[in-house]
Amino acid sequence: MLLPAEKSWIIARNKTVENVSLSILQRIRLSILTGKPEERNDQQSQRNVFRSFLLHFRPASVPERTLDFSLSWGQGGMALVLVILLFASGLMLKFSYEPSPARAYASIIHLVNQVRFGQLLRNLHHWSANGLLLVVFLHCLRVFYTGAFTGPRQLNWSIGLVLFAAVLLSNFTGYLLPWDQRAYWAITISTSMLDYLPAVGTGLREWILGGSEPGPGTLVNFYAIHTAILPALLLFFVPWHFWRIRKANGLVIPRRSENEPMTAGEMVDSMPHLIIREAAVALLVLAAVLLISMFFNAPLDAQANPGLSPNPTKAPWYFMGVQELLIHFHPLFAVLVIPGLLVLGLLLIPYFNYEANTAGVWFCSARGRKMALAAAILASVATPAAVWFDAYATAFWRAGPAGLVSNGLLPFTVLLAVCAGFYWLVKQTFRANNNEAIQAMFTLIVTSFVVLTMIGVWFRGAGMQLGWAA
Ligand code: HEM
Ligand code: HEM
Repeated sequence: MLLPAEKSWIIARNKTVENVSLSILQRIRLSILTGKPEERNDQQSQRNVFRSFLLHFRPASVPERTLDFSLSWGQGGMALVLVILLFASGLMLKFSYEPSPARAYASIIHLVNQVRFGQLLRNLHHWSANGLLLVVFLHCLRVFYTGAFTGPRQLNWSIGLVLFAAVLLSNFTGYLLPWDQRAYWAITISTSMLDYLPAVGTGLREWILGGSEPGPGTLVNFYAIHTAILPALLLFFVPWHFWRIRKANGLVIPRRSENEPMTAGEMVDSMPHLIIREAAVALLVLAAVLLISMFFNAPLDAQANPGLSPNPTKAPWYFMGVQELLIHFHPLFAVLVIPGLLVLGLLLIPYFNYEANTAGVWFCSARGRKMALAAAILASVATPAAVWFDAYATAFWRAGPAGLVSNGLLPFTVLLAVCAGFYWLVKQTFRANNNEAIQAMFTLIVTSFVVLTMIGVWFRGAGMQLGWAA
């Protein structure tokens, strides 16, 4: 049943506004809702308004098969929710945070003790930030293992890598802001790694720090990068990422094998099928972050003391893999050559020449799945073994001063030989095509890096000696 005002509003949409008497609110509403008028009741019209608003952001329909939760695990959506949460909580933190060595720590203490819900706000920001890193990493793995980086999604993989870098740097620059012992020394040790970059290293470190060690200039730099530059970068790249998904006609179509055609199949309306799933994922993430934030406080040590370094001094957890590499390799290899090759490899993944089109097929094939599993098991055993061997059994080649050859070229050549041998083995023994072989290599390297990170975080004690980290 239409109300009289509703009727005149519909008439007004068919004619010109001047011909019908409307209240000012109706005129404003009319100026916003310019769609095709139809007679509908109140509830229906509200639903249609909501729907047409959503369809500016979401496609009208999607292939039903891409809605299967086991394709995306909702990870991209989770990442988006966390980014939004970080923006919201970050903006609120700005009202109390003061970016100077004299005031930063005190402003955090004030926030958590004096401001209502201040501790919760800080916790939300902290756990969302760490959760985002984890979710984005898993999202990256799912995209890789479903072959969703191949054409027409190649560029989106690269945009994703930029997003990964932005999330990593956001975490890193945020880490310093509380200006406690943990923050000060983690940033000192991480930025000191830059010194090992030939020619530009020290200059780059001093430029980033705004001086020779973390101080007022560093806080100002990190604060500006954290709350302006990186958010601007995310605001540009996240929508671009989503735009590319639309341009690729949605997600990769899941298939059981490469022989199955890549047809979209049945299409369903986004509203409610997609939107309801996205809303469920968003609510779950919000509930999880809120629960964690209610029970676990973001860490805060004593105020930063540049004269007293903790033992051991560790980088933030996501850089512990590189710090662990530094224990085993000459700094040139640990900081430049190995990470540089890894980043190059990640950038090139979509552009290798693959034998088969396995887009949408989990792990390429059943054989690919087995080989990936074997690679993960091998790396989980071989990496700790190599760390142990290097710590206790290589004294003979470390007797002299740690040199570019004994500490760098030699172990690096061994590493390359292991990788090449592994690649050859899977190609020869398992008759793998190059999709499966590259996937197995990727698994080997990523698992090794994760294991190195875990060793650095949990198994390095005082003096960075092997043992349980207290
Ligand atoms: C802030 C970080 C990121 C956000 C918010 C984000 C968000 C999303 C969302 C919502 C999707 C749709 C489907 C899904 O949930 O998987 C998606 C797909 C995709 N993402 Fe991301 N992503 C991020 C980072 C990354 C990274 C690090 C990579 C890879 C290096 C990446 C590569 C891709 C690709 C290739 C697709 C298309 C997948 C397909 O068609 O199945 N994204 N992303
Ligand atoms: C991807 C986005 C972001 C990430 C990953 C991130 C990460 C972090 C991290 C890890 C901290 C240290 C928290 C702690 O453990 O004490 C932090 C602090 C902070 N962030 Fe962010 N942040 C992001 C976005 C933002 C935005 C958009 C703003 C504001 C415009 C912001 C403002 C702040 C402020 C003021 C602090 C200092 C307060 C504190 O340390 O508790 N952040 N951020």
